[in-house]
Amino acid sequence: MPYPSITSLLALVAPELAATRQYLLNLMPAQTQPLMESVGYSLSVSGKMIRPAMALLTAKALQETSVSETQNGGLSEKAIALSAVAEMIHLATLLHDDVLDDADLRRGQATTRFQFGNKLSILSGDWLLARASQTLAEIGYLRIVRIFSDVLAYLCDGEALQNEAAYRLESTTWDYYNRKTFGKTASLFAATMESVGVLHGCDEPVIQALRQYGESFGIAFQLIDDLLDYTQTSETLGKPALSDLKQGLANAPILLALESESLSQVERDGLKNAIEQLFQLCNPVNGCENKPALAEQEQLCLAIQTCLLKANAVEETLRLADTYLQQAEKSLEVLPENPAKVVLKQLLAFNQTRKT
Ligand code: FPP
Ligand code: MG
Repeated sequence: MPYPSITSLLALVAPELAATRQYLLNLMPAQTQPLMESVGYSLSVSGKMIRPAMALLTAKALQETSVSETQNGGLSEKAIALSAVAEMIHLATLLHDDVLDDADLRRGQATTRFQFGNKLSILSGDWLLARASQTLAEIGYLRIVRIFSDVLAYLCDGEALQNEAAYRLESTTWDYYNRKTFGKTASLFAATMESVGVLHGCDEPVIQALRQYGESFGIAFQLIDDLLDYTQTSETLGKPALSDLKQGLANAPILLALESESLSQVERDGLKNAIEQLFQLCNPVNGCENKPALAEQEQLCLAIQTCLLKANAVEETLRLADTYLQQAEKSLEVLPENPAKVVLKQLLAFNQTRKT
């Protein structure tokens, strides 16, 4: 039986997710027309909303046991505002990321930068960050403000780390990968979960366990993203496939293949060589945009994919992601048994089977 779609999986929080979407739309208007249009467009291209969904499910799971916010009746409004903050920050990073990556397509549609230009994409990201700060002030918990300020720094560090290692296979170690992945991806999931715990007045061990769920899920999420770059078509992904490789990024399947015992030493060296050649060809500083260079890139990509197949890199990446998902599931033991907790567990399985 196929695994349920994300929409049916999140049916339990469908009304709250709709409220989060509405919250995001109500952030408008921006003062100038161009910013209005650009932010409006960015908000209209909806993604999976996994971060808000996770926050809302956790809030729901904690609702029965929490004392602090329920007493003053502010729980659901603040939980929805918090879930919207997670999405605003996520969206802001994508608006900036698409400028850094010169990306024309995301979620199957033209990126904001393609549609409105780099300047408005950056400004729209900044505008969303400003609104996120305002919302955090309204939620009114200093610790939550601190958690999300830290995340903004982690996100920048993660992206800068990635930039530093781009087109340099020798810099791409597991230590680098883990630090980069925490910064770029896991830190926002971790912060979102931690803040829900803080909002609900949970004890510190519960808050830390929730944070751990977010962090472990986030790492597994990035591992699957890495995988999809090789296994899915551009149509399914809604953005170009193999883009990590062409941007000079050796992601998890590559790291696993380079140490795979299913390949001989000669094959591993051949793989390393092919990646290094590809990085050289794709590196914009070498200006290789001509036709023969593009054809050579495609050939190298094919050779790399063949090696990944032989190295069982897909299965190995899934296995690695699974170890993080098991950690995440264990962290959920702090939550009371209820339907929202069941869905938080199902989200872990969903991550393993998702195609986008
Ligand atoms: C997508 O990565 C990008 C991120 C997950 C984070 C990007 C972070 C920044 C640009 C720095 C900080 C920005 C702010 C607003 C604080 P990807 O390019 O690997 O994935 P993609 O294929 O979806 O573009
Ligand atoms: Mg990108």
